[in-house]
Amino acid sequence: MKRIRCFIVLLLASILFAGEVCAKEKIVRVLAIGNSFSEDAVCQNLYELATAEGQKCVIANMYIGGCSLERHLNNARGNLKAYRYQKIGLNGLRVQADSMMLSKALKDESWDYISLQQVSGLSGIYDSYTPFLPELIRYIKSFISPKTKLIWHQTWAYAQNSTHKDFERYGCNQMKMYGSIMDASKKVMKEYGFSLIIPSGTAVQNARTTFIGDNMNRDGYHLNLIYGRYTAACAWFETLFGKSVVGNTYAPKNMHPALVKATQEAAHQAVLHPFEVTNLKALTPGEKLYTDSSLPLDIRVEDLLGRMTIEEKVLQLNQYTLGTNNIENNKGVEVKNTPAEIGSLIYFGTEPDLRNRMQHHAMENSRLGIPILFGYDAIHGFRTIFPIPLAQACSWNPGLVEQGCRITAQETKLSGIDWTFSPMIDVSRDPRWGRVAEGYGEDPYTNGVFGQAAVRGYQGKRLDDSLSIAACLKHYVGYGASEAGRDYVYTEISRQTLWDTYLPPYEMSLRSGAVSLMSSFNNISGIPSSANHYTLTEVLRNKWGFRGLMVSDWGAVMQLINQKMARDLKEAGKLAINAGVDMDMMSHSYDKYLKELVEEKTVEPAVLDESVRRLLRLKFQLGLFENPYTPQTDASTRFRRPASVKAAEEMSAQSMVLLKNDGTLPLRAVKRLAVIGPMANNAHDLLGCWWGHGEDKDIHKLLDGITGEFKASEVRYAKGCDFSGEDETGFQEALQSAKWADVVVMCLGEKGSWSGENNSHADITLPQIQQHLMQKIHATGKKVILVLANGRPLVLGPAVEQSNAILEMWQPGTDGASAVAGILSGRINPSGKLAMTFPYSQGQIPIYYNRRSSARPNQGFYKDMVSEPLYPFGHGLSYTRYSYGELSASKTVLHKGGKVSVSVPVSNDGDMDGMETVFLYVSCPYSRITRPVKELKRFDKRMIRKGETVRFEFVLDVNKDLGFVDEQGNQFVDAGEVNICIGDKTLKLHIE
Ligand code: NOJ
Repeated sequence: MKRIRCFIVLLLASILFAGEVCAKEKIVRVLAIGNSFSEDAVCQNLYELATAEGQKCVIANMYIGGCSLERHLNNARGNLKAYRYQKIGLNGLRVQADSMMLSKALKDESWDYISLQQVSGLSGIYDSYTPFLPELIRYIKSFISPKTKLIWHQTWAYAQNSTHKDFERYGCNQMKMYGSIMDASKKVMKEYGFSLIIPSGTAVQNARTTFIGDNMNRDGYHLNLIYGRYTAACAWFETLFGKSVVGNTYAPKNMHPALVKATQEAAHQAVLHPFEVTNLKALTPGEKLYTDSSLPLDIRVEDLLGRMTIEEKVLQLNQYTLGTNNIENNKGVEVKNTPAEIGSLIYFGTEPDLRNRMQHHAMENSRLGIPILFGYDAIHGFRTIFPIPLAQACSWNPGLVEQGCRITAQETKLSGIDWTFSPMIDVSRDPRWGRVAEGYGEDPYTNGVFGQAAVRGYQGKRLDDSLSIAACLKHYVGYGASEAGRDYVYTEISRQTLWDTYLPPYEMSLRSGAVSLMSSFNNISGIPSSANHYTLTEVLRNKWGFRGLMVSDWGAVMQLINQKMARDLKEAGKLAINAGVDMDMMSHSYDKYLKELVEEKTVEPAVLDESVRRLLRLKFQLGLFENPYTPQTDASTRFRRPASVKAAEEMSAQSMVLLKNDGTLPLRAVKRLAVIGPMANNAHDLLGCWWGHGEDKDIHKLLDGITGEFKASEVRYAKGCDFSGEDETGFQEALQSAKWADVVVMCLGEKGSWSGENNSHADITLPQIQQHLMQKIHATGKKVILVLANGRPLVLGPAVEQSNAILEMWQPGTDGASAVAGILSGRINPSGKLAMTFPYSQGQIPIYYNRRSSARPNQGFYKDMVSEPLYPFGHGLSYTRYSYGELSASKTVLHKGGKVSVSVPVSNDGDMDGMETVFLYVSCPYSRITRPVKELKRFDKRMIRKGETVRFEFVLDVNKDLGFVDEQGNQFVDAGEVNICIGDKTLKLHIE
């Protein structure tokens, strides 16, 4: 019946146009007055479609990007040379004129058709047509013959996940916008006497019902360069020539035949039913498109998704473990008989063979051959272990961090892992929280910059490169606000603070192309992160347009029960997936209940599909379908290559912070050196909390580093005591060594396992036994250099006064010893600066630099101790002296939307070359939403040779860097004063 109807409509259409446009000899001349949409639709494929059917035509387009009817009318009124005019002549020759007036184009040919359209964003708002169309039509008619027909071009391409601001007019609802456009088009046809409509928009929407899905555009609202344009052109062809486009022999080069068929049918149905969507779901591509790597990724995803059963979809969304877990907090039972359809596995091996066996199982024993995604926590290295991330931030060298992550990617990928659960970009301001070791400190911008560097390093230029792995930003979001520094607990975060402090690093790192995130354990002001629709969907998906994967943290779905939100595991799964958690890591909620939830309709099938789609996308992006197996390589070629070790040494050197120095350092001509303390001859604790597959035998111990460096000195070692406990039996030997020595190097701090996950400490002072040893050594009257290894800022107490110099070396990984020795000897000039404040006392916590101003700045101090920190954010000494000159700016009166460049000369006045980090802060004297006392906006680290001056220059974006956000994340910039602070200098700027 339907076929007969189509035939009749086509017959009528051909009768209607016979002798006018359909006759073989008739030349059709058409001019589109539009914008990029019409350019996409008529300049690319229409001529070829016509020629393939032996039709003759002249096709032209008048282009201005995003041009509305209002603007067309203004151009007409002013006879403005505002257009790019492109014309394809009878012989296929293309001509272009860049400054064309409407009047000239209208007279250029004797047009059969002239089309008009509204700019996409306004096209569903009929009131935006009425003030302009009548005059515009009159204007056009004054240049053309009465025979010329005015036709209406119906446009539409927005994807449901489009972040285009105009989409908000329609509540970011695709079908709402489409419906409004159809209503407006119908009215236009009726009111203004258009004789024909070109239903490009409906053609696009029809195509969306096929296996192509919502992949008709290139950036959320422009047509896809190949099949999107082709679809629109097909709609034009069939309307103008009255001939079915189905079976037309022309298609763009490289367009898959299945896509040609689907888009031709979509256009054909649109011409038959221009104002309603025809569901073409039944149109199957036949062959497996997803296995064809030449096809666009989204098409492959849709094709595969369309073939999956609900059981297969559900299994994809789970992550189990494979191999022997070495992580204390997450002991997992090795999965036996892992289903071949499983989506992901955490892989604990260092050799690819087990992975490959598992992957063969998936590829060969599952119906559709979907590869497994293997993940692992390579946090600060895999086998070559770099300093903990908090230390890395103290290097202020994103280039080094990127390089380190690239090396980690290489060691990881070649060992069978595609995905690392890193970087952690949780702003953290409470050193009692053990996980401060894993992130980049207390400042949002710093976390963002290093997050970006890590993403670049892990993911490389291409995700499907043989040495790239997927990054995972974690823990989304606000986990660092853990109340009283206790892990896994409640976090009190206002919307304003969420936007000011916790979300910015994520927004920044997503801009670098991160492809996945992990939802966190914490409860954000009543709604746990892993069930938080606002953060997971409204912000991440709707506002930021993120299309990648969201994996839960380990057991986070199940923990919704502990958090008293879900009554059971089934409800937990429902809450998590509906909020936006795509993959369940180790809760076994999705594998047990998701199918049931979908069948009961408490989880929409579309929600399930969307999560599967995100995972499949990632697998395609990683090239897993083409290269599912890891090549077997020899461990010696894979791990600890000389260049990797060198990079780790460099990062260690640049991340160490000289906290105090009374001139004792660097040590020159020391005859007798005592090296004392539990860290001095210790290997493992240098690795920190996530040592991956780091091995003790690779680690350079401090004692070895110092002995190697100070070859001309006599070095004596004494352990003195352990990290904790009460055993003082080693004190005697330590004291004797100290008395014998000229200088004592005290190597104290924390065990590696004292920080990291589930390692909250209420007491972050140096353990009593170490303090006691320190006090005794100090009492010998010898010069004491305190070298600290720790995973968090410590409260140092009397040890500060008892030492002549303090070097914070953090937990530097496998290769930090030579850096420590080099700094002690002066071979290396220290250049690290703190990315996290060292409190003076535990009672000051939380203490951080970018707090908001007090109501009484001169009161409210502690009565029982100082209110300032021991060492603030940004603190770090050098062996040379730097002086900062006056700040200058490219302008002092700024305008919204503009940019300003600020520079400062920095001189090295000492007698050693050095690397200096310059920090640029912004501070607003007043603002309608109060701002922190100062906020870091830029930093840069550069080498300054002794005696030289280097100018540091920073470009600031007025809106982004000098503005602020409200509690919905809207960006503002207000007129008024703003101060730029660099070093001890301030410059006042004014925003108009
Ligand atoms: C729990 C931790 O919170 C997270 O950081 C880690 O990536 C996962 N476990 C996987 O090991």
